Amino acid sequence: MIDQDTIKNCEEQKAQYGYAPNPHCAVCRGSGYVHPRLPDGKTDYSQVINCPAEGCIESQKRIYMATEPSLKDKGVSKFNSFDNFKPVLGAETTLEAFKDIAFNPDAPPLLFVYGTTGNGKTHLCEATVVQLLKRGIECRLWAVSDLVSKLKESIPENTTELLMNRLKTLPALMLDEWGQNYGSMWEEQKLEEILIARERVGLITIVTSNLEPDKMIEEDMMPERVVSRFRDRTQARMIANKAPDYRPKKKAKRVKGADSQ
Ligand SMILES: Nc1ncnc2c1ncn2[C@@H]1O[C@H](COP(=O)(O)OP(=O)(O)O)[C@@H](O)[C@H]1O
Ligand SMILES: [Mg+2]
Ligand SMILES: [Zn+2]
Repeated sequence: MIDQDTIKNCEEQKAQYGYAPNPHCAVCRGSGYVHPRLPDGKTDYSQVINCPAEGCIESQKRIYMATEPSLKDKGVSKFNSFDNFKPVLGAETTLEAFKDIAFNPDAPPLLFVYGTTGNGKTHLCEATVVQLLKRGIECRLWAVSDLVSKLKESIPENTTELLMNRLKTLPALMLDEWGQNYGSMWEEQKLEEILIARERVGLITIVTSNLEPDKMIEEDMMPERVVSRFRDRTQARMIANKAPDYRPKKKAKRVKGADSQ
């Protein structure tokens, strides 16, 4: 028998968070938690994980994470995916590297992609966030300028350390448009600290920029010691997205339509 309290709790949880245990689940009996198994097949009573049964909390969570309100929360403003990314000339290795991180658990965790404005860097970051979330990997996409503002705001709120810890330990982090709207020395140091901490433990970290890495060093946008981590082939990839700006093509189409009226 399923008790009414369990049903009510699950309904409330679903309303609040967007996902909840299945109150009728035979595996967790609506608690949403189970003990994981050890490699030898025995139950590990010292730990709990989200119930992985079909239709229960973990599968509901993955579905919820791909919905609009959840994605906005992760920094994804447009519903861009790998499916609507055209394999344009010059973006081949870029697309391959993003896909590798999105789909392959053994991909090198660090990726630095640079190239001209409008050639799909943000699009591919968003597609990667969506795919990682589908795999149950927590992630966040930040435009660097927004993150700098967020860091600044955290000072009077006294939440800098909390924010920094989250940024250093989040399983996947995408820092988009590095080198624009840069903050003060303090913020630069914070950004560096985040990258170094993540590199040390091999967490998925993607940085995009309009500037070439050498230019970034030259212009003091990123210290050489950080750039060099992204050049280390054993753990990182540094890729030039050579595709041109995708947007003029879109505009050209619109103009043509307008002319024919
Ligand atoms: N290869 C592509 N296929 C489909 N859409 C693309 C492609 N490259 C860019 N776009 C679209 O062009 C616009 C600009 O791309 P964006 O990813 O914002 O560029 P970037 O971040 O490199 O400046 C976006 O609307 C994006 O979806
Ligand atoms: Mg962009
Ligand atoms: Zn369950």
